Amino acid sequence: MKPVDGFAGTPLRGAKVTDFHAAEVGRRAARRAAAGLPVVPMHYGQPSCGAPPAAIAAAHRVLDADPLGYFESEPLIGKIARHYRSAYGLEVDPARILLTAGASAGLVAAYACLFRHGDRVAMTTPGYPAYRNALVALGLQPVELRTAAARGYQLEAADLDALQPAPEGLLLASPANPTGAMLDLDHFMALASACRRRGIQLISDEIYHGMTFGQRAVCALEVEPEAVVVNSFSKLYRMPGWRLGWMVVPQRWARTINACLINFFLTPSTLAQHAALAVMDETEDLQRWVEVYRGNGSRLLEGLRSLGITSIHPPEGAFYLYAEVGHLTRDSLQFCLRAVEEAGVALAPGVDFDPVEGHRYIRFSFAVSPAQVEQALASLAAWLPGYRDLPDYARRQ
Ligand SMILES: Cc1ncc(COP(=O)(O)O)c(C=O)c1O
Repeated sequence: MKPVDGFAGTPLRGAKVTDFHAAEVGRRAARRAAAGLPVVPMHYGQPSCGAPPAAIAAAHRVLDADPLGYFESEPLIGKIARHYRSAYGLEVDPARILLTAGASAGLVAAYACLFRHGDRVAMTTPGYPAYRNALVALGLQPVELRTAAARGYQLEAADLDALQPAPEGLLLASPANPTGAMLDLDHFMALASACRRRGIQLISDEIYHGMTFGQRAVCALEVEPEAVVVNSFSKLYRMPGWRLGWMVVPQRWARTINACLINFFLTPSTLAQHAALAVMDETEDLQRWVEVYRGNGSRLLEGLRSLGITSIHPPEGAFYLYAEVGHLTRDSLQFCLRAVEEAGVALAPGVDFDPVEGHRYIRFSFAVSPAQVEQALASLAAWLPGYRDLPDYARRQ
């Protein structure tokens, strides 16, 4: 088709955000699998075992009987409200709960409604790449607060206090991606009061709640009733491809933020909402997989140590190990692209989570089966001794 006059060759005028580099690892992993070659998928943070059977059965029933129009499930909202009571002892009015197309949509709506063009939003580095990229896409400025393995990747209130001027927002995640680090109650309280003192809006991404290996995660609403909370059915409930999550927002903002969600996305997946109603009661099934991840995390930590990869913060929650591998590579993207192609182990490069230091780090997602953890360790044991960074690798791609 002939391009419209005047637009041919015009560059995009909007924000240029970077892709997840892990997506390229994923494409190569998919090509390998399609060619019948073994591959262990540890690059994306997604449970590999599928949704609980109760969700699948509910979806089958609904698919046969329901026209699947746009939908907001009041029973699901009610169930989420009750979850806050049973998990944290919090009373949350259902009117404050908004259903979203995953935590991703909740974060975008939060950014769009809580901030103005040019506002600064602080977040931890290393951190989930879409935080930074989506903020940039919406004309906001990410302010990176570096956390270090030596300090357990803890963010201190003093780190926030040191920011001059105060940012308009603070985005927290505990447990965190990619480190699996958690904020304890004291740290969370100190950060919440630092936010209150300086008028910083707190956004808490609680997508890894319920997946912890010791203490339970603190909900931001326990320490700051005005926090905006984002959560999802993608991780604990094992429904990443179903695209469903929720937000809890202060009552006075609920209608406006919901209007934003509707204008951006209409309603989230109807099928997913029906299925989700069935999963929240599947405590035993959900917990069984958290125990699998706990075992996987310990085994992987021990196995990597025996391969000489020793600089790893033991995860307190989520399903990630963030490993320092500066003795093996100065180019984590090359390392991960070659690990998938040469060893059949798909990993996420640290540059996704930390553009400055991430070239020396890689992230393992251990939301796979124990057998896949063993397969990954065996493949890496055979591959790592011969690995050297190739100086001209990027040019060859
Ligand atoms: C910390 C964090 N927040 C949000 C998301 C987005 O999740 P969802 O599938 O709910 O959109 C992810 C996905 O990996 C994540 O790790």
